[in-house]
Amino acid sequence: MERVSVFGTGYLGATHAAGMAELGHEVIGVDTDEAKVARLQAGDLPFFEPGLPELLARHVESGRLRFTTDPAEAASEADVHFIGVGTPQKHGKHAADLTQVHAVVDALAPLLDRPAVILGKSTVPVGTAAQLTMRFQELAPAGAAVELGWNPEFLREGLAVQDTLRPDRIVLGVDPGRPGSVEEVTRRIYAPILDAGTPVIVTDLATAELAKVAANAFLATKISFINAMAEVCDAVGADVRDLADAIGHDARIGRAFLNAGLGFGGGCLPKDLRAFRARASELGVGESLAFLREVESINTRRRGRVVDLARQAVGGRLEGARIAVLGVAFKPDSDDIRDSPALDVAGRLHLEGADVLVYDPRAMANAARSWPTLAFADSVEDAVAGARLVIVATEWQEFREADPGALAKLVVERQVIDARNCLDVDAWCAAGWRYQGLGRHAS
Ligand code: UGA
Repeated sequence: MERVSVFGTGYLGATHAAGMAELGHEVIGVDTDEAKVARLQAGDLPFFEPGLPELLARHVESGRLRFTTDPAEAASEADVHFIGVGTPQKHGKHAADLTQVHAVVDALAPLLDRPAVILGKSTVPVGTAAQLTMRFQELAPAGAAVELGWNPEFLREGLAVQDTLRPDRIVLGVDPGRPGSVEEVTRRIYAPILDAGTPVIVTDLATAELAKVAANAFLATKISFINAMAEVCDAVGADVRDLADAIGHDARIGRAFLNAGLGFGGGCLPKDLRAFRARASELGVGESLAFLREVESINTRRRGRVVDLARQAVGGRLEGARIAVLGVAFKPDSDDIRDSPALDVAGRLHLEGADVLVYDPRAMANAARSWPTLAFADSVEDAVAGARLVIVATEWQEFREADPGALAKLVVERQVIDARNCLDVDAWCAAGWRYQGLGRHAS
């Protein structure tokens, strides 16, 4: 058992804190947001993540996991400190905003008067960890006895618990110039995971930082690649899902992340891509990542394409057209609407004067906060009742399993745009719907 603290209690931090408690450690979660800390301390998770509420409640109850706003408690009780705060996009710029990371260093370092290990998990521009090492050692009374490693996090929202407890790899960056106990401590913390045979890559700090942004850039590139293929499929009447299967069986390519549709969004891929490009430019290698600009423009084109299809479907003018948008979360099993392609489409249709009614199983409260003028329905049925067009914008299970025959009776026109290519084309067509996918067509 180790005594650890986790700074930041957002998706990453809260999940990591609960995961560390599950591995048997004594965990203290630290956040500056008093309301959030109070909720977490009451065992109440402020966002939707399957399986996490149970984990949180169990370990808060047992006392193995607690939350505070006071970094001094973390400094006095824990010997290992994880940094899991957010690194959003800078306002009006592409680069990452490291304000929260620096705030943790400034709050924690002066309190470290005995040897400690800091493990960074936040996604940061390459080079940050080396700077933070110096800053910690300058500010901490324990000086060089404070060591830093970089241990990027690869968890996916919706699968965060599983990804934390059974990750597919552990990456650890250490400073080869300052050999110390970081690797040994990290191996102790993750012992149950490592004992299960999980691969570990121990490398230098810069490589570990890059591993995270490179992984997200690759995933985004894969998605945009298949979306570009969807555009070509549309031009020739080919089927992008069959195409993805056909190439995905090649183990060198792999089928995962080849689902064409509305493209990627969320709090990570889009902003990490931009921050990576910004950092590469600073380093004088902007050219090397120039292709990521194309990845992003393919991605944004998807949203415009769905709006264009919707306009055509209702006769060329969106004004006054009743449209049901099913899904506003950036992906299923999440209530996250950050940079959500689905919400963007709903918003654009609304701004063009369409009479949009939105339904999402989890994300409506968040969507209503960021788009207060959008109208929301209580169910799929309420959303589609009276609609001239239905758009499936997030591939929730509930939409995939919806009965096209029953929905057909509620709408004014049987038109569906399957913006996530997730519906059973034959079943929808058999129920009389005019079906349009993205790079996929009714036969
Ligand atoms: C992503 C990465 O997958 C995680 O490994 C990483 O840890 C995380 O970002 C992060 O940096 O914190 P996440 O944002 O939860 O995880 O979501 P993904 O499952 O990667 O999906 C991202 C977006 O791509 C979603 O909008 C999804 O709908 C879209 N997507 C995904 C597609 O359009 N097609 C696909 O085939 C797969």
